[in-house]
Amino acid sequence: MCGIVGYIGTREASPILLEGLKRLEYRGYDSAGVAVLADEALKLKKHKGRVTDLAKNVSGNGLSGQLGISHTRWATHGAVTEENAHPHVSSDGKIAMVHNGVIENYLSIRKFLEGEGYTFYSETDSEALCNLIAYHYAKEDADSDNRFLNSVRKTLSHIEGTYGIAVMCVEQPNELVGARKGSPLIVGIGADEYLLASDVSAIISRTSNVVYLNDGEIVSLKDGELNLITSDEQALTPEVKKIDWEIAESELGDFRNYMLKEIFDQPKALENAMRGRFSDDQSTAKFGGLNVSAQELRQIDRILLCACGTAWHACLVGEYLIERFARIPVEVEYASEFRYRNAPLDKNTLVMVISQSGETIDTLAALRESKRKGYKTLAINNSVGSTIARESDGGIYQHAGPEIGVASTKAFTSQLHILSMLALYLGRLRDMSFQEGLDYVKALKQAPALVAETVKLNDQILEVSKKYKDMTDCLFLGRQDMFPIALEGALKLKEISYIHAEGYPAAEMKHGPIALISGECPAIVLATQPDIHGKLVSNIQEVKARGAPVIAVANESNPLPEDLVDDQILIPNCHRAILPVLASIPMQLLSYHIANLRGCDVDKPRNLAKSVTVE
Ligand code: AGP
Repeated sequence: MCGIVGYIGTREASPILLEGLKRLEYRGYDSAGVAVLADEALKLKKHKGRVTDLAKNVSGNGLSGQLGISHTRWATHGAVTEENAHPHVSSDGKIAMVHNGVIENYLSIRKFLEGEGYTFYSETDSEALCNLIAYHYAKEDADSDNRFLNSVRKTLSHIEGTYGIAVMCVEQPNELVGARKGSPLIVGIGADEYLLASDVSAIISRTSNVVYLNDGEIVSLKDGELNLITSDEQALTPEVKKIDWEIAESELGDFRNYMLKEIFDQPKALENAMRGRFSDDQSTAKFGGLNVSAQELRQIDRILLCACGTAWHACLVGEYLIERFARIPVEVEYASEFRYRNAPLDKNTLVMVISQSGETIDTLAALRESKRKGYKTLAINNSVGSTIARESDGGIYQHAGPEIGVASTKAFTSQLHILSMLALYLGRLRDMSFQEGLDYVKALKQAPALVAETVKLNDQILEVSKKYKDMTDCLFLGRQDMFPIALEGALKLKEISYIHAEGYPAAEMKHGPIALISGECPAIVLATQPDIHGKLVSNIQEVKARGAPVIAVANESNPLPEDLVDDQILIPNCHRAILPVLASIPMQLLSYHIANLRGCDVDKPRNLAKSVTVE
């Protein structure tokens, strides 16, 4: 939630800040702002709306200077207005700050500061933090070299909540200060310049050398030096990491939006998920970073998979795959529920979290809670160096490349593929035979080509979408591992087209949702499993009998009778290990086209943000 970028160096700050903000817009896009400091004067521009509109206001507006901060907002406290947009400036005019996170004790701070004569101009929690820095700055020794850094450090010791901040002080024109707790912040180290940002995508065009801040760390970027300290003033040696992203990976190319690009990126994302991850004899998978031995994995009695949103749907598919192929009981929990539920876990439970961004606050909290209890924690994660990647005991990187569209597509199928590889690996440590392993690996390797084949259904799915684009309700139905794919299909449609949709186990429909069925509520039925084909046909009959149009997704070799369905999308036949991946593609394309035909902004749906870093 919210993206921040800061710059200090030898170049004009505002174009660099605006470029970074554009790349962070997926984190929030209701308002944006930029502040630049030059000649001890602060120049500020805020805008209610998108970064591109802010950029139009900034150009030619004299926002010149080589030190600056900027922000793209996802509102938590206070409406979407220019006053509530960041940067905030302290009422004495000395401190300018951008913030990502939530200050929980802001009301008491605000009350205290109002008593001290500070004035507030916004409804935000962030302004309290900004004014408190000004308050401490005023109290610090004016001759101290570390006056500004100390004032930030002292302020943060009074803060309850989460923050990633970038701060400037009018009287300290050579210094930019950043800090984090609970919200991500990185330092990019460029040639004669430093950047602060919520994530790598904002700075990758300028540098691939980054320092990831840990919770409680504060950084001062001053006179060409990087000074990293802990909240209790201990000096730290920054660990510089090299990012292996290509800038081209986050460019649109010929695609009209990121969601479509990322749908078409999927064959490559699956290739990357598999690279170097099969045994020499091609009968099992191998993972370099698990940090759990085969011996230890044989001891586990249960796996807990934990995540939010789409990644939670991946967990549900993982449950089917691991239980089916590895015969290990799996439980799936919403991270937001697990963290406060205090669920009893068996001694030999392996906890695994899944997160594309690696920054989702609830998933991170679930990971921390499990670690605190002494459980081994693993993560499946797409963002190298993210907080979840750094805090888990081990894990599997997705290597799917940056996912910019708010609606997850390639990250989801890459998670499914990795879970399928994990099911194979765990299965081979137990009862899966060598021959079954060989067949399984062969199937996994076929996935990129089969997905490439499946995305060719794009034109057909566009035509189907035209028929249903005006629907107001939609049911997604599936059984077994197609149930989570139905849930994910419904989520995709909801989040980008704003059509009410529900995913349901096909047979459960009779226990309630069938009341919704009418000619106005189409059902999308995943009828892809040959072994339960007859059961799915019965479910479709039940829907048809009540007048609802049926769009079926089935296998090429097992099509449904034409008179039974209104539209039918046939995906290639495949091994069960990769069926969830293949069946996801029509779900993505359907929601994409329907949203597009309705004129929705598919990459930046209303009210959403890609990375949910507040509870
Ligand atoms: C997916 O389309 C959503 N935007 C959302 O549900 C997302 O999957 C969820 O917020 C979890 O994010 P994460 O994978 O980065 O943890």
